[in-house]
This record gives sequence, C-alpha cells and structure tokens, in this order.
Amino acid sequence: MLKRRLGRTDFEASVIGFGCGPYVRPTREEGVKALRRAIQLGVNLIDTARSYGDSEAIIAEALKDVGHKVFVATKSRLGTGEEVARSIEESLRQLQVSKLDLIQMHGVDREEDLTARLAPGGALEAMKRARESGKVDFIGISGHRPEVLAKAIKTGEFDVVTTPYNLLNCGADYSLFPLAEELDIGILAIKPLDARSLAVPREMIEFELNGRATSVAEAALRFALANRRITSVVVGMTNVAEVEANVPLGYEVQSLSPEQQARLKEQARMAAHTSCDGCARCAEICPYSIDIVRVFKQQVLARHYGMKEYARAAYKEVSRPQVQMCTSCQLCIENCPSQLDIPALLRKADIFLS
Ligand SMILES: NC(=O)c1ccc[n+]([C@@H]2O[C@H](COP(=O)([O-])OP(=O)(O)OC[C@H]3O[C@@H](n4cnc5c(N)ncnc54)[C@H](OP(=O)(O)O)[C@@H]3O)[C@@H](O)[C@H]2O)c1
Ligand code: SF4
Ligand code: SF4
Repeated sequence: MLKRRLGRTDFEASVIGFGCGPYVRPTREEGVKALRRAIQLGVNLIDTARSYGDSEAIIAEALKDVGHKVFVATKSRLGTGEEVARSIEESLRQLQVSKLDLIQMHGVDREEDLTARLAPGGALEAMKRARESGKVDFIGISGHRPEVLAKAIKTGEFDVVTTPYNLLNCGADYSLFPLAEELDIGILAIKPLDARSLAVPREMIEFELNGRATSVAEAALRFALANRRITSVVVGMTNVAEVEANVPLGYEVQSLSPEQQARLKEQARMAAHTSCDGCARCAEICPYSIDIVRVFKQQVLARHYGMKEYARAAYKEVSRPQVQMCTSCQLCIENCPSQLDIPALLRKADIFLS
C-alpha cells in the first residue's frame, strides 16, 4: 500500500482510508469483517464520527489484536465546549483508547458555525484543553465548503482538513488544497464516489481508462488517488467485496493526464445527469454565498435517484432561502468554466424542488 505523510501530524497514512459513514447501515459483524479485511490489505487510516451509529465500537472490536498503528480520526458535530468535552470522553470510551489520534469539528459548512466553534467557550477551546491533558493528539476540521475551510485553516489551529473531492465535486482542489499543502496540513478527501452517485453497479455504465473498461467506482477512485496533494482518499465501504475492489487501487501510483481527467469528469456528469462538475468557483464569487452545487445535487437526487422527498425537504430547509436571494447579477456565470446559465438553472431547480 502506498503511503503519504498526513501533513504536520507526520503520520504515514495509507493512500486509501476507510470511511465509516455508511456504518449506520451494516450489521456489527459485517462491519468488523470489512474493517479487518481492509487493515489486512494495508489500510491504516480510519475516518469516523460520534454520529456514525456504533462505528466507534465496531472499530474498537476490529482493531483488537492488530499489532501495528492504525490512525483513527473521529469527529464531534457539537458546538459548545462542554458538549465537545463530553463527546471526546464518549469517543475515548467507545474506541477503548486512552488518547484519540485526531478529533475533528464535524460538518462546519457555514461561516457563522465556524465563528461559533472558534469562539471562547466553543468547540476549539474544548479540543485544545483535551490535547493539553493528553486525551487527543491532533485537531482537525471537516466540511463541504472549501472557502469556509480555507478560512478555518488560516487560523493555524488545525492539523488536518477533511472535505469531499470527486469527479463531480472538485472545487477543493482550487480553493483549499494548495493552501493546506502550503500550511503543511494533512488532507483527507471524503466522498470519492460522491456519496454513491458514482457508485454505479459495474454492469450499468463503464468508463474507458487507458484503453480498458473500468467500473465508474474504479475510475472515480483512480481520479481521486491521482491527486498528489491528497494524503488519503477516504472511501465508505460496507462489505468485504467493496474493500477487495477498492483497496488494491492504492498499491500502484495513479496518474491521469489533464485530457483523461477532463474526459472522466464529462463521463461522470453524464452518468450523474448533470452539467456541473462541482468546481465551486461560482460560490466563491456569489455576493450571497449561495451554495449552487448543493442545489444542483438536490435536483439530481430528486430527479434520478428516487430521493424526491428527502431532496425537497433539504432544499426547503437550507437552500431555498439562499436561492431566493439571487439577483441574477450573472457574476457566477463569468466564473463558471462551462459558462452555465446559473441563475436560470437555479430558477428551474427552485420550481422543481419547491
Ligand atoms: N466530515 C463529513 O462531514 C463527512 C461527510 C460525509 C462522509 N464523511 C466520511 O467520508 C467517508 C466517505 O464518504 P461516503 O461514504 O459518504 O461516500 P463515498 O465514499 O463516496 O461512497 C461510499 C458508498 O459507495 C459504495 N461503494 C463503495 N465501494 C464501491 C464499489 N467498489 N462499487 C460500487 N459501490 C461502492 C458503498 O455503498 P453501499 O455499500 O451502500 O453499496 C458506500 O457506502 C464516509 O464514510 C465518512 O467516513 C465525512
Ligand atoms: S446570479 Fe445569483 S447565484 Fe449568480 S452570483 Fe449573482 S446572486 Fe449569486
Ligand atoms: S455551476 Fe459552474 S462554476 Fe459552479 S460548480 Fe458548477 S461548473 Fe463550477
């Protein structure tokens, strides 16, 4: 298994990491089996969170009798210092360790949220206190908006940053990864299969890569692994078959020419029924910070993945108030590499999702 240094933590992490997000689904027994197989095949980094079902307990069980270091990153979604301190204690108990390798702020997607977690009495203070008392080695942050995470890591408080990166969502490569690299911060890339929209069964769609057909999942993982700035590509796996298909991709250096990358992105957009590649350059320039990618994704989920109810509820709660602020100023179109008519697409999405 190839390894890369996780920034200033100095840990040599496997280029494929094990994501426990889906562990809210499989049984404990399946979970332990999948994790053990991954470790056997060379994975030495696991990503979890307090909110991922009983994944911390599953990890504790899978790591029993493993004779070498496996780095476990966990997270807390909570905001106040007291809540975070309790969350750290619970993670220590569930993982059955005396010290956490990495505690991350979970899902920091809005500036207000970041400000609150950095404020006195907030999450950061509790994490630093835990580090001072020897309960935590390193502190990280995770979220879905590269511009918010870039602001966070400029504070110098974080050792690791965790964010999505895939064929349909590669904005972090422009606005976050170069800065993280410069600051020597480890990068964990999550959702390499776009949280399943690229996890298409092999028989349905095949991508062509280096003259041979590959599954969409394989092409998507190769794409993420080819990005040298990323320390570890954290893929969610729920069974041994997925582990055996994915982990060996980390044994060889992956490299893709710019032309191959562009072609894969185009194929992925077709497979996922969207013309937006999630580069997030539109959000950077929008005066109202409208999360445009999120709106487009909600529309795809509703139209093509049978998740109409879920997408409409999420749209109503978070995105609709933002979309209603759009003044059609067209600044985003100038920044969009595909010159998409974003305000018109937002209006269409609003009608469909409302
Ligand atoms: N910090 C955050 O806010 C945050 C948010 C989301 C995720 N994460 C982390 O990032 C990890 C990865 O993200 P994710 O799990 O949401 O998305 P993902 O890695 O993009 O997709 C994972 C899903 O793809 C399917 N899959 C895996 N290998 C496959 C293969 N070879 N062929 C076909 N399908 C395959 C599995 O689905 P089935 O087994 O169901 O078929 C799996 O649940 C999570 O597990 C979690 O640790 C963090
Ligand atoms: S057109 Fe709408 S989405 Fe685009 S930058 Fe202007 S306000 Fe933002
Ligand atoms: S709309 Fe354009 S700029 Fe915005 S994420 Fe999609 S491709 Fe990038």
